[in-house]
Amino acid sequence: MIIKPLKKNSEFVAFVSDINLKKKLNKSEIGIIQKNIDRFGVLVFRNQSLTDDEQVNFSEYFGNIEHSGKKSNITKDSDRRLSTKLADVSNIDKKSIVFKKNDPRRIFNLGNRLWHSDSSFKKIPAKYSLLSSKTIVKKGGNTEFSDMRLAYENLEDDIRNKIETLYCEHSLIYSRQRLGFDMEKELSKNEIKNFKPVLQPLVRKIEENNRKTIYLSSHIGKIKGWLRPDTMCFVDDLIEYATQKKFKYVHKWKVNDLIMWDNRQTMHRVRSFDDVNETRDMRRTTIEGKEALI
Ligand SMILES: [Fe+2]
Repeated sequence: MIIKPLKKNSEFVAFVSDINLKKKLNKSEIGIIQKNIDRFGVLVFRNQSLTDDEQVNFSEYFGNIEHSGKKSNITKDSDRRLSTKLADVSNIDKKSIVFKKNDPRRIFNLGNRLWHSDSSFKKIPAKYSLLSSKTIVKKGGNTEFSDMRLAYENLEDDIRNKIETLYCEHSLIYSRQRLGFDMEKELSKNEIKNFKPVLQPLVRKIEENNRKTIYLSSHIGKIKGWLRPDTMCFVDDLIEYATQKKFKYVHKWKVNDLIMWDNRQTMHRVRSFDDVNETRDMRRTTIEGKEALI
């Protein structure tokens, strides 16, 4: 296995080659990948033509799978295209037909175009995500990642001190509100209960490397003890700061890429593409993290 950092002396993004993820890995190989995901935050594996089961098997080396369901999307069980071990972040239904412009599932998925950390709206948020590309689009659809450790370390002292002890409410309701998609109107009272906001610290310490990160996400709608408008101004400023070019990696997808990232140490977003005409078939497995200490 060869691990090649994106840039010399950089601790953000590495490319992993000379390994076949279809095969059962040994302890030493798993240990190397574990060490490097904790170090680089994003690992890119090219030319991995994995079945869903193979992707699940590989993911399970790194923890428990977070199941996809009512707490993470608005797709009905009967409309699911993939097993609940995978999050479907594609723009197609179970008959492989592209979502129409006004399909609520499409509008909901547009939330992935906002900077976020996967499942930060869950009490036990995601640790790692692994996303594979089956069908890619001709134009657009890049995924961008930002290094939230470097962003934390480069903060001005007064901001770093200010955010150190803050807690934020995260919910899918908040990120979809940013798009003008009012989940409280679209969903029943029973369904909306699944999206109750959860509290997460704004600064997290990563035990594997002792680095601190800004745990930021467009799912944030309120800082504990703050007014919502003050929260939104402050969070938007932080997101703008933390996603500057110097903290960012832009991934241009090829078919059969697999990207593994650490949601505690990075944020990401997908860029726009012609999603009512072109198919983008992407499959995500997600590994559970630990409940944040509050
Ligand atoms: Fe995501």
